[in-house]
Amino acid sequence: MSQPNKTNSFYITTPIYYVNDVPHIGHAYTTVAADVLARFKRLDGYDVFFLTGTDEHGSKVEESAKKNNERPIDLADRVVQRFKSSWKLMNITYDDFIRTTEARHKTVVTQLIQKVIDKGDIYLGQYEDWYCLPCETFWTSTQLDPQNKCPSCHRCVQKLKEESYFFKMSHYAKALLTYIEDHPDFIQPVSRKNEIINFIEEGLRDLSISRTTVLWGIPMPITDQTQTSHIIYIWFDALINYVSALGGSQTQAFNNYWPNAIHFVGKDIIRHHAIYWPTFLMSLNLPLPKKIFAHGWWTNEGEKMSKSKGNFIDHEVIAQKYGVDSLRYFMMREIPFGSDGDFSEKALIQRVNSDLANDFGNLVNRTWMSFLFIRL
Ligand code: ME8
Ligand code: MG
Repeated sequence: MSQPNKTNSFYITTPIYYVNDVPHIGHAYTTVAADVLARFKRLDGYDVFFLTGTDEHGSKVEESAKKNNERPIDLADRVVQRFKSSWKLMNITYDDFIRTTEARHKTVVTQLIQKVIDKGDIYLGQYEDWYCLPCETFWTSTQLDPQNKCPSCHRCVQKLKEESYFFKMSHYAKALLTYIEDHPDFIQPVSRKNEIINFIEEGLRDLSISRTTVLWGIPMPITDQTQTSHIIYIWFDALINYVSALGGSQTQAFNNYWPNAIHFVGKDIIRHHAIYWPTFLMSLNLPLPKKIFAHGWWTNEGEKMSKSKGNFIDHEVIAQKYGVDSLRYFMMREIPFGSDGDFSEKALIQRVNSDLANDFGNLVNRTWMSFLFIRL
């Protein structure tokens, strides 16, 4: 191992999770993976900044709160406590937990959007296409799956027709492709990189970045001619967390950590991180993060976990039953980081018995015994 450089910084982030849902094994997976890397880098002498947090605005949270008859902020406050206690249980050593409803975040979002407006990269238009609420994502009709559903989560989409501000994402398509070519490790694994390249090559359209029918969010710092107020599209609000947690783009923390930023995400949100986010940063003349790594998807005994099926695995229950370290070990060991995998208690028990109890357990036992013999 090379001599660690004390000034070496390392910035690792997880997605910020939606608060309309309580934490489950999928969230725990990304967060544990980031924690393992953060711990390793700290041991290796790096100055580590490990960020996680919650994504609290948008129509999904607004609707969940309405159903519960509570204010979105009360719902968020409640669920944030669940995330925090869950990460405590899982021994997650994050350095900061950002919430998109915090003033420190909102200030930076407004500043950065304003810069993109000043640059001339935002214009008023009309959005008319499809929207997937669970993914909070816009789709064109040609992108929908063969059943005309969301190509990512395969749930129903809704037709949206509303006035919207657009970000000139198409302007940056070529620059992004060049960047990806020049930085072969920017998007990993390579299967995801190819998916992104194909997506860009099919033609990037400008992106709707405001909503008029959503109230729960950060206001767009402009109003249109009809004085309609717009709310910033949740994904732009959310992605900026990686910079707002550093206090904005003009701070010592930003200079220190941003050049070594690694985003861990699930493959469901690779497009937002590898296309929306870099093009937005390009518009701001800011450097891109060092790496975006999209891991695979856990299924439950072969089935996709979903709210409607009610088959989400509760990592807290598993951790209490088998121990936190057994669960953490299983998640990291069972599947290569980047591939999909299946979660079953049987596989966990087998893995823990064979690797931890037999192999490592035996090794520790024998080492201990030989130590005793040497002493004797
Ligand atoms: O997408 N297997 O939040 P989210 C593996 N707020 N990982 C899984 C998983 C599964 N079955 N299910 C969820 C959002 N995950 C946005 C992110 S970031 C600026 C905004 C993990 O609550 C995985 O990391 O839907 C996935 O990307 C994330 O949870 C989605 O969490
Ligand atoms: Mg999701």
